[in-house]
Amino acid sequence: MKNTSIVLFSGSPRKRGNTDMLAASFMAGAEEAGARVEHVRLYSRDIGPCLECGGCDKTGQCVLEDDMASVYPMIEQADVIAVSSPIFFYNITSRTQALVERSQAMWVRKYVLKQGDLAGRRRSGIFLSAGATRGKLLFDGVIRVMRYFFDAVSSDLHAALLIRGVEKRGDIKGHPFALKRARQLGNAVALGGDVTALDDVWYPGKKQE
Ligand SMILES: Cc1cc2nc3c(=O)[nH]c(=O)nc-3n(C[C@H](O)[C@H](O)[C@H](O)COP(=O)(O)O)c2cc1C
Repeated sequence: MKNTSIVLFSGSPRKRGNTDMLAASFMAGAEEAGARVEHVRLYSRDIGPCLECGGCDKTGQCVLEDDMASVYPMIEQADVIAVSSPIFFYNITSRTQALVERSQAMWVRKYVLKQGDLAGRRRSGIFLSAGATRGKLLFDGVIRVMRYFFDAVSSDLHAALLIRGVEKRGDIKGHPFALKRARQLGNAVALGGDVTALDDVWYPGKKQE
């Protein structure tokens, strides 16, 4: 059994909502396979947006004093960085966006200060999302955002589970495969495994359904 270390950021303001349930299933599957999962509920933390103060430009260290200070080392120590967020106006939620923006300090270390990848290694990025509508392009924008976020935190977008047509809290329980697939994805990721065998899981290079 691998001892994969996962940090999971859940980015819905609604507790026990659809993406919270996706995140919980993912976490259960990962723990079942022996992973250690650190769960951070973004709306229970004080994490503000990047203020573009330039404070990180020379050091790669964010100068803002809030809960992000404890999040940076979690990112650095993890093998897998997982993020869940519902779609709000074709976007991730604002608190998830705050997490993304605050990765600027890490982006500076890599691309300005040329310090290479965090702790000299790449991580796997996992994205879990849900929206009420069913449009083909529903997740296009957020996938792009997550790719850039994951790169800033020395990761590669490895897989995404993108669920359409769920709106009210708990709708996802009636979805034909969402929670089961999230659990299988957690399992596969914890084992450092191949996700290409999982139906309905998107990964780079796969055509979006
Ligand atoms: C402010 C707001 C904006 C939303 N915008 C969209 C949207 O652009 N497209 C969509 O499909 N669903 C949209 N939704 C619906 C949510 O994505 C959907 O209800 C989702 O299942 C919520 O997940 P949660 O329970 O994890 O918060 C929006 C919901 C809210 C509250």
